[in-house]
Amino acid sequence: MSDNVLKVSGLKVAYGGIKAVKGIDLEVNQGELVALIGANGAGKTTTLKAITGTLPACKVEGTVAYKGASLKGSQSFHLVEKKLAMVPEGRGVFTRMTIHENLMMGAYTRNDQAGIDADIATWYETFPRLKERSSQLAGTLSGGEQQMLAMARALMSHPDLLLLDEPSMGLSPIMVEKIFEVIRAVSAQGVTILLVEQNAKLALQAAHRGYVMDSGVITMTGNAADMLDDPRVKAAYLGE
Ligand SMILES: Nc1ncnc2c1ncn2[C@@H]1O[C@H](COP(=O)(O)OP(=O)(O)OP(=O)(O)O)[C@@H](O)[C@H]1O
Ligand SMILES: [Mg+2]
Repeated sequence: MSDNVLKVSGLKVAYGGIKAVKGIDLEVNQGELVALIGANGAGKTTTLKAITGTLPACKVEGTVAYKGASLKGSQSFHLVEKKLAMVPEGRGVFTRMTIHENLMMGAYTRNDQAGIDADIATWYETFPRLKERSSQLAGTLSGGEQQMLAMARALMSHPDLLLLDEPSMGLSPIMVEKIFEVIRAVSAQGVTILLVEQNAKLALQAAHRGYVMDSGVITMTGNAADMLDDPRVKAAYLGE
């Protein structure tokens, strides 16, 4: 048996005449942190949406297997039950619920109340800003604060696979450091992660393996440390 948590084969996505993803293969193994990097419009978000089945089926070809089975037709609550959590680009918190309610919602498939309370306390420790504002509506948070909340909420479900779409976007340098600290810590706890990032350097420094996507195709893949040293990656994505 392979230890793939996620296996994407021959994935193609077209929006009308626009071919956003042109036949990619990608896999994420148990316990891995895999970075998917690439320029604006490369097809990264489209790939994540195809994985979670949030694109209309008619636009998608190829297969996506999560723990060996197709996710076709899954609703978002199915994904949570299957222990797959996604933090979408541009956040996606429940704006009309409080911060505390958002965190509770993240844990709705769990019934270990003591564990849930302990996790919430840990997240409040990690992001004190959320604690100070715990009874405030999430929609009133700043962009960066919503990003922190989205990440904490996703992790409240104790996912087996975490999909992150540009978690550093819109964050100040200090918060970018903090978010990457959290990503590394979560990975060290054994959670399998697929990380889409514009910040190629931080992503590859945190990751075990990486993929480079360009205009809908995977142009390079390998060990993250090797990719950081690769002159082509350096020139195109690391500004070195
Ligand atoms: N709903 C849509 N309808 C039509 N075209 C779309 C749609 N969503 C994305 N596209 C196009 O598909 C291509 C890939 O977009 P995608 O959002 O996947 O890129 P990305 O790699 O996530 O980029 P970024 O780093 O800017 O987030 C782009 O050319 C984009 O314009
Ligand atoms: Mg994107």
